[in-house]
Amino acid sequence: MEYRLRCTRCSSYQRDRAAFRCASCNSVLNVEYDYDSISLPRNFRRQRPVMGKYLRLLPLESLAAGQGEGATPLLPNPVKGYGRCSALLKLETGNPTGSFKDRGSAVEVTKALELGYDSVVCASTGNMGISVAHYARLAGLKATIFISRSANPRKAARIRKERASIVRVATDFNEAVREAERRAASGSAFVCGDYHYRKEGQKTVAYELLDQLGYRVPDLLFVPVGNATLLSALYKGAREYLALGMIERMPRLVAVQSSGCDPLVKAYNRGEKIGYLRPRTVADAIAVGYPTFGAAAIAALKKTRGMAIRVPDSRILSATRGLGAVSVRAEPGGAAGFAGFAEMYRASARALAGRSAVIVVTGKNR
Ligand code: F0G
Repeated sequence: MEYRLRCTRCSSYQRDRAAFRCASCNSVLNVEYDYDSISLPRNFRRQRPVMGKYLRLLPLESLAAGQGEGATPLLPNPVKGYGRCSALLKLETGNPTGSFKDRGSAVEVTKALELGYDSVVCASTGNMGISVAHYARLAGLKATIFISRSANPRKAARIRKERASIVRVATDFNEAVREAERRAASGSAFVCGDYHYRKEGQKTVAYELLDQLGYRVPDLLFVPVGNATLLSALYKGAREYLALGMIERMPRLVAVQSSGCDPLVKAYNRGEKIGYLRPRTVADAIAVGYPTFGAAAIAALKKTRGMAIRVPDSRILSATRGLGAVSVRAEPGGAAGFAGFAEMYRASARALAGRSAVIVVTGKNR
């Protein structure tokens, strides 16, 4: 699909297809399409929701690096104890490496191949590194993954098993991002990570769940937040379906973070700018002190009259156990959306009664 890359801050267009930030102001970019020129096939609504179905809504010629990601289940929440407040779980744990990250990696690694790169770099708290390393290995590209010294050791071992090189930084995820970007500036690797191409892949979670719901828009969509790429991607995906006439309204987005790492929740609820917070949470996947897509996420929350919820680690862990007891194996960061739903129920069951909700379960336990 034809597309343009445009800066989210200064609005300038970028010529370089491999750019990961704006050449003039260093902000994150957005992929823009001409929606009037998009024509979806007649039987689009009836097609099975897999990544390939959405190729006309992605910035790619093909999905050359695809590995069967997507087409994940949408099931009634089997956990009891929420009265008449029902919810559906979108189980992104069903992707090839066990998280929604695979949708973004399929797009990024395909783009790296299209542009002729033979290596990629990526900063991660763990899952994105596993996913990028896996897709890169299968595509025959060399991968270097930047993680913090305190990253989950099981995830680091899995990255190594995918034959990627690991670079460990001293402090946290945000330092890993700076290091990966520095390495990319001096080398010849394609930069994967929480940037615009990944966001395009991850917006297919929204398309897919709306397809599965027969285009009945849920009232609330609960999403764990780290870099806020997934949340802003869900917003973009739903907005595009709205622009294409597939749906008639937007769901309200509900951002969920651990109270040990809640820069987005704090900023949104206080009406302030996002500031860095040192992460202290057991939910290692979402231990991100400064979210890359924070500004986009705040705009998405405002536009959908969304909410932002912080949940103590103890309750994230009990949500994880609650899901585990009904055979939904999620890691704490993956179960945080459900923990946010449970927190809202505790605070006011009435706020949830009679509402339709979808909870994205983002990653499986390892
Ligand atoms: N859930 C899981 C399981 C994750 O791994 C992440 C992010 C998120 C939710 C939050 O998504 O960052 O788009 O807001 N993991 C990244 C990583 C940071 O490196 O694996 P986000």
